Amino acid sequence: MTVFPDGIRHLHIETVDSTNLFAREHLEHGMLITAAQQTAGRGRYGRDWTSPEGNLYLSLVWQIGDFDTAGKYAFLSAVALADALKTALGDDDLPLQLKWPNDVLLGGKKLCGILLEAETKDDKLYLIIGVGVNLAHAPDYACDLKSATGKSVTPQHMAQHFAAAFAAWDARFKAEGFDAIRADWLAQAHDIGTAIAVKLPQEDFSGTFAGIDKSGALLLEQENGALRTVTSGEVFFT
Ligand code: BTN
Repeated sequence: MTVFPDGIRHLHIETVDSTNLFAREHLEHGMLITAAQQTAGRGRYGRDWTSPEGNLYLSLVWQIGDFDTAGKYAFLSAVALADALKTALGDDDLPLQLKWPNDVLLGGKKLCGILLEAETKDDKLYLIIGVGVNLAHAPDYACDLKSATGKSVTPQHMAQHFAAAFAAWDARFKAEGFDAIRADWLAQAHDIGTAIAVKLPQEDFSGTFAGIDKSGALLLEQENGALRTVTSGEVFFT
């Protein structure tokens, strides 16, 4: 039996355009939607997210207080996903790596993607946390859990583990603030000093990874030693 934590209500749909789009029409705190497949799965930057049956497609609706908090949920979701994967596989040493702001990599290749979207309804602010995990299939640039580890995890079990880890990190965030999430994220991120490039709509620049600040912004050390603070953009290893 699949069990979800108190406060999270699960709805499964066989086929949907996108769980994030469906969630937008069902803004209710704690609503968690999974689909066996998506016909119009969406990734960051307007990209498609190919969604054949066998992988996890999930959207969680979560009410938050303000837009500043929204960015911190990118990191909360990534550390929850990392915990959920380790628990699901029973392997604390699974060589995951986190990449700013919320990619989860395995063996240097993308295993999971997270798409955060904010919506307001009746003066309340909701986050739609869309999670895709390549459990059984992956496009060429990415990897899937089954091929990488030889182990199979069902989408429903993965959803359950994610929900439990998310609820635990959410409680910790509310009790202790962002510092614990930031520390856990940094402990699983690629090394300080890794060469990276950042792509913005109007500009590309490169340097080395110098961590994240107290709000979660990326710190990039430029060639001249100056630190640049980056609040949005796509990061690539160079
Ligand atoms: C990324 O580009 O890295 C984010 C991908 C997010 C994909 C998930 S799958 C479930 C949810 N529904 C969507 O349409 N997208 C997200």
